[in-house]
Amino acid sequence: MKYSAPKGTRDILPSEIFMWQKAARTFSDICHLYGYEEIRIPTFEDTNVFQRGVGDTTDVVQKEMYTFEDKGGRSITLRPEGTAGVVRAYIENGMASLPLPVRMFYDITAFRYEKMQKGRYREFHQFGLEAFGAEGPEIDAEIISIVNVFFKKMGLDKISLHINSIGCPKCRKAYNELLKDHFRPHIDEMCEDCRNRFEKNPLRMIDCKVDGEKDIVKNAPRLIDHLCDECRAHYELLKSRLDNMGIAYTEDPNIVRGLDYYTRTVFEFVSENVGTQGTICGGGRYDGLVESLGGSATPGIGFAMGEERFLLEAQAQGVVFDKPDYVKIFFAAMSDEAKDYISKLCYQLRLEGIGCEQDLLGRSFRAQMKYAGKSGVPYMAVIGDEELSGDSLKIKKMEDGTEMTVSKADLIGYLKGI
Ligand code: HAM
Repeated sequence: MKYSAPKGTRDILPSEIFMWQKAARTFSDICHLYGYEEIRIPTFEDTNVFQRGVGDTTDVVQKEMYTFEDKGGRSITLRPEGTAGVVRAYIENGMASLPLPVRMFYDITAFRYEKMQKGRYREFHQFGLEAFGAEGPEIDAEIISIVNVFFKKMGLDKISLHINSIGCPKCRKAYNELLKDHFRPHIDEMCEDCRNRFEKNPLRMIDCKVDGEKDIVKNAPRLIDHLCDECRAHYELLKSRLDNMGIAYTEDPNIVRGLDYYTRTVFEFVSENVGTQGTICGGGRYDGLVESLGGSATPGIGFAMGEERFLLEAQAQGVVFDKPDYVKIFFAAMSDEAKDYISKLCYQLRLEGIGCEQDLLGRSFRAQMKYAGKSGVPYMAVIGDEELSGDSLKIKKMEDGTEMTVSKADLIGYLKGI
């Protein structure tokens, strides 16, 4: 029997992991610069956390969740995203009493039963962050700038920022009536999901995957034209903050986002490269979510970036990540005594933080040399009788074959410097 990874999942191999690690380190370094700290949340939650949090008229909740009953009869769901779980953790751990804003970032796997495509998986990875307790648009602009700094530090450009406002419950109420008036005469032509959404959440009809391209959807009234005064002021100030930082954006009234918790600011970073899955990062404000998950009314905002999509985009833009040489040097032994010497030396070097390797397979001297050539290690040294009795070693640079004689007393300093 030959097993394969389940459909929609993939192995991330040692040969590519350094790119993921570089992105993760860069993201966490930047978050720390902005005052965010890491949170780790469970991979699964009580199903209600997502049903109430993400919203039960969304595709994510209706069609894409991995939900099962555990052996204790509880309904459990593998997280389809991070926000609802972070909000649950914020409430459960009494974090509202911490100095505001409470700012947290994460690096998680998420699970959605979706149709496999380039850049779309059933298990995928997200970097994200959430901030609680800040109501004004300054933080909206600040978290958008975090994504920009990340792309810049990773060497990517040509990713455009699209922003929109989808208002608050106050302007949404009036707008929903407008939308219903617009769709009502055509409701029989709409798909079954849209017919259900019509009463419960007409805004969802706008990004329907089935009806989205129909003129009736394209010509629907736009929420951005019907914002209340407070939401309009929030949006205008966000734009001026972005202008002030020199962050370019496109106003895109069609962004509604696929999750129900959003209010006011929504944004997406979109590329032309990742096939049909062009959205690399998406986020926005969710001022009602903490309350709807049982906490006290608290404004919130965040985003998540698809790591697979980010790396596909980096590849498409020709960004090259350097693979770090963790192991600097291989020591080849010419005798059993040399092996003893090397194993002690390697132990001491590793205590000093120097990556090194020795033969672990009982290879002949020739085979050790062959291994050193193939393994990609940047330096090697041969240990024979002369090196055992003498005061120095010859360190060979594999790239060009040049050799350097280094005294044993200076070896640690020398290896730290190369
Ligand atoms: P989302 O737009 O559902 O938002 O997902 C964010 C990003 O995750 C997407 O832009 C995409 O890059 C990636 N992504 C989503 N689904 C898949 C998939 N099946 N395969 C590969 N990548 C995928 C959220 O998840 C919100 N929690 C973001 C947020 C945080 N909003 C506020 N705070």
